[in-house]
Amino acid sequence: MSIKKVVVAGGGVLGSQIALQTAYCGFDVTIWLRSEGSIERAKPKLERFKNIYIETLEAMKTDPSEYCRGLAAKTDLSEGELDELKQKAQDAYDSLTLTTSYEEAAKDADLIIEAIAENPEQKIAFYTELAKYMEEKTILVTNSSTLLPSMFAEHTGRPEKYLSLHFANTIWKNNTAEVMGHPGTEQEYYDEVVKFAEDINMIPLQLKKEQPGYILNSLLVPFLSAAEALLANDVADHETIDKTWILATGAPAGPFHILDIVGLTTAYNIVIMNPEAQDPETTPGKIAKMLKEKIDAGETGINAGKGFYEY
Ligand SMILES: NC(=O)c1ccc[n+]([C@@H]2O[C@H](COP(=O)([O-])OP(=O)(O)OC[C@H]3O[C@@H](n4cnc5c(N)ncnc54)[C@H](O)[C@@H]3O)[C@@H](O)[C@H]2O)c1
Repeated sequence: MSIKKVVVAGGGVLGSQIALQTAYCGFDVTIWLRSEGSIERAKPKLERFKNIYIETLEAMKTDPSEYCRGLAAKTDLSEGELDELKQKAQDAYDSLTLTTSYEEAAKDADLIIEAIAENPEQKIAFYTELAKYMEEKTILVTNSSTLLPSMFAEHTGRPEKYLSLHFANTIWKNNTAEVMGHPGTEQEYYDEVVKFAEDINMIPLQLKKEQPGYILNSLLVPFLSAAEALLANDVADHETIDKTWILATGAPAGPFHILDIVGLTTAYNIVIMNPEAQDPETTPGKIAKMLKEKIDAGETGINAGKGFYEY
């Protein structure tokens, strides 16, 4: 099978990026949205990302540090080649079809990428409705960050053709694509999705089994939690903890700088999922209190200009 028509369901932060990147790499892309209002909200996002692609490609003419792995396979492109890619970004944007019709979206779709809200009931409702319209050949993937494909497989009407394809925010720069099946996913469709990820300039990272948090968050969440615990228990200040990590491992950034990038609200939402966080005497309770105080003060990370550090 070769994938030609790709549907992205959802035009939020990630859906709009995935749609534009896929069209940029030459696929026929339709974005399915649940209402006319969602269409109107998706349009400025798509335009903004298209402009970022064009500006980045222009900047790459004079500044090699602007190079983004998702935009071009090699760094040493001529001005003419970069102009062609700028045109490609514009053409990709112009080629996008936006629809609220399940029927129109699903017709002849080879691959559907679900990127709607991270809410199990809403995802199930979407899959159940979509299943009525999908053709036999269609492969279905979810971009869910925290939910496992086995939670939804039975609702898709095609468990063997259903798996996760997990992108990272700012996919034209951070071009990872974690590929993860559930026990009922057939290898043939898993391999097809790996190939598709390569075809849209992503680096496929293959998981052999289901794992909450995939590879990245399985590493990152415990690492950041350990750093938060050192600070909340007053073992050392955040600068000393970061300095230790950077000097000892050669890493470019320490955990508190990473927390500022991720955003303290996300870190807080993760810690309060732990029931122990209710008790202020426990380490999770102390971490929750520490993060809540900063969030209440508006110090939520880089986007706010201040988190653990000032920007
Ligand atoms: N934001 C990130 O950094 C990031 C990174 C990787 C994966 N993800 C995953 O991608 C998915 C989407 O995240 P996002 O950040 O783009 O969210 P978002 O809130 O920015 O966008 C959600 C989109 O889905 C639509 N939507 C919401 N509820 C819906 C419903 N019930 N039915 C149909 N459409 C609905 C919205 O209109 C919007 O277009 C989530 O599963 C999330 O875990 C997000």
